[in-house]
Amino acid sequence: MLGFERVTDDSLAAGELRAARLANGTPLCIGNADGQLFAVRDECPHSAFPLSNGTLLPGARLECGWHGAQFDCRTGAVLEGPADDPLVRYEVRATDGNIFVRTEAIQS
Ligand code: FES
Repeated sequence: MLGFERVTDDSLAAGELRAARLANGTPLCIGNADGQLFAVRDECPHSAFPLSNGTLLPGARLECGWHGAQFDCRTGAVLEGPADDPLVRYEVRATDGNIFVRTEAIQS
């Protein structure tokens, strides 16, 4: 898969978050929102708390563990403050027991 890197295995259960990293050092939060995988930069847009230490709530809501901002992990949109900016998202694919992430972020 041109432009993609393997970042972890695909053993994420529904509701699970996992920290990963691209080869260039970019921190990633990989998650399984009711069977739909997603990958976002593992830094909250509010104050850079690692989102992989947050909570994945029903409805694909990713809650930051520091000040409680919530995001739609499918679109990156802010659902609850105090964050103002959306998540940086990455295209993600699962194949052959592994999760691959595109090294370039999705331009929104
Ligand atoms: S660092 Fe995430 S809400 Fe403040």
